Amino acid sequence: MLTPNKSLLAPSLLAADNLNLGTEAEAAIQAGADLLHLDIMDQHFVPNLSFGPALCQALHKRFPKIPIDVHLMVMPVDAMILAFAKAGAAWISFHPEASMHVDRSLRLIKDAGCQAGLVLNPMTPLHILEHTLDLVDFILVMSVNPGFGGQTLIPYVPKKIQTLRHMLDTQGHSDVRIAVDGGVDLHNASLLSEAGADTFIMGSAFFGSHDYQQTVKQFHKAVAHG
Ligand code: DX5
Ligand code: ZN
Repeated sequence: MLTPNKSLLAPSLLAADNLNLGTEAEAAIQAGADLLHLDIMDQHFVPNLSFGPALCQALHKRFPKIPIDVHLMVMPVDAMILAFAKAGAAWISFHPEASMHVDRSLRLIKDAGCQAGLVLNPMTPLHILEHTLDLVDFILVMSVNPGFGGQTLIPYVPKKIQTLRHMLDTQGHSDVRIAVDGGVDLHNASLLSEAGADTFIMGSAFFGSHDYQQTVKQFHKAVAHG
């Protein structure tokens, strides 16, 4: 199995202590996080509310070196793409079901100089990616139904990741990253990595752990297979 991309860990701030988001972000960065994952929910595309561009801007101002990975669970998406790009996001992804014009939305992200990603809900089929692969930098595979942290990884998702990795590798897109989001922990990271994921969003399993540095260390050990 070809997995040429370096494994990255992206703690999801949704699971951090909300009263101490700055301190939590700083601790995650110091522990060795590669990206900060920011979940944006609108109580329309998903049944929950979370953060807005102001938090992204404040994080970027305080920690300019860490890339902020903005996962848009909003509908429509284009205005929020522009707002988050302006607020310093480095990676921006959205669900294809949430945009009337997926090509246009992807180009908005690329034109803003950000890494562009499409997010697949657990039951969104891979064939929706046809025609998009020249424009995307990463595919974010949801391993839970979006909207809440702390859920359990859906068992059919590793196989989906494996099929996607094979598809990308055989179609000349091995540089496209596969991120996995939802129920990721230190136990299933190895299986997900073997399936072909290279970017791991970790909410509860990261911020619920006692020692973030130790968690980062164990994560790298888990994904360092032959
Ligand atoms: C769910 C979000 C996830 C969430 C993951 O809709 O997209 O990023 O924060 O949290 P855990 O790791 O707790 O499942
Ligand atoms: Zn997310």
